[in-house]
Amino acid sequence: MVMATAAALTELEQEITAPGEGLDRLRLVETPFVPEVRLHLAEDAIVWWARMEAAAGRPLAAPYWASAWAGGQALARYLLDHPGLVRDRRVLDLATGSGLVAIAAALAGARQVVANDIDPYAVAAVTVNARANRVDVTAQAGDLLDADIQVDLLLAGDVLYDGEMAARVLPFLRRAAAGGAQVLLGDPGRGHLSATGWETVVSYPVPTTEPSVDPAPRPVRVLRPA
Ligand SMILES: C[S@@+](CC[C@H](N)C(=O)[O-])C[C@H]1O[C@@H](n2cnc3c(N)ncnc32)[C@H](O)[C@@H]1O
Repeated sequence: MVMATAAALTELEQEITAPGEGLDRLRLVETPFVPEVRLHLAEDAIVWWARMEAAAGRPLAAPYWASAWAGGQALARYLLDHPGLVRDRRVLDLATGSGLVAIAAALAGARQVVANDIDPYAVAAVTVNARANRVDVTAQAGDLLDADIQVDLLLAGDVLYDGEMAARVLPFLRRAAAGGAQVLLGDPGRGHLSATGWETVVSYPVPTTEPSVDPAPRPVRVLRPA
């Protein structure tokens, strides 16, 4: 994993230094709903993915890190608008993707921010994106979903994107909350969150940069365990 992450970081740094001109390039852009945070995102993540797979000669995980997901944008917005929730706290951003939520937490004054993902490219993306926003974020590779964690604030943006992931993430979030962590979830309602057990903190109309999704704003909730 360490070597895969180092290789991915080298690759992303090269992409950023010498971007092409087509749809398969990365661009440093303001996040639509969180303009305080700039991210290296794919002009078109699907086209970028196809080129990288062709170059690697093997299948690669979908580049979720190359888009700013609606759930992450809502959560990042909420943190930046309520820095008192974050200030001086130890934060874990689970399934960080681009690192948007982790970077927002750092900008809001967190004492320590760890950004975790299983995709080496996501870990590399957090590194280059934290650099672009001049914040300290510790990028951590690996799967924590079966572990018990010790943090003050656990953040999860758009992690309920399929049934299998939801079946692992929701018990993890509940365990963390039972262990004393404050838990916040950013969720656009993809059908994997039961109606009970969570309460809405806020709902925002969030535009998306997700691949192949209509960019029209949609209501996205920030939730906490009830
Ligand atoms: C839909 S993206 C959301 C990214 C980001 N939180 C956001 O809101 O923009 C989901 C992310 O979950 C990551 N992921 C999937 N399984 C994971 C696991 N077991 N542990 C950590 N991250 C995981 C993927 O690699 C991907 O980056």
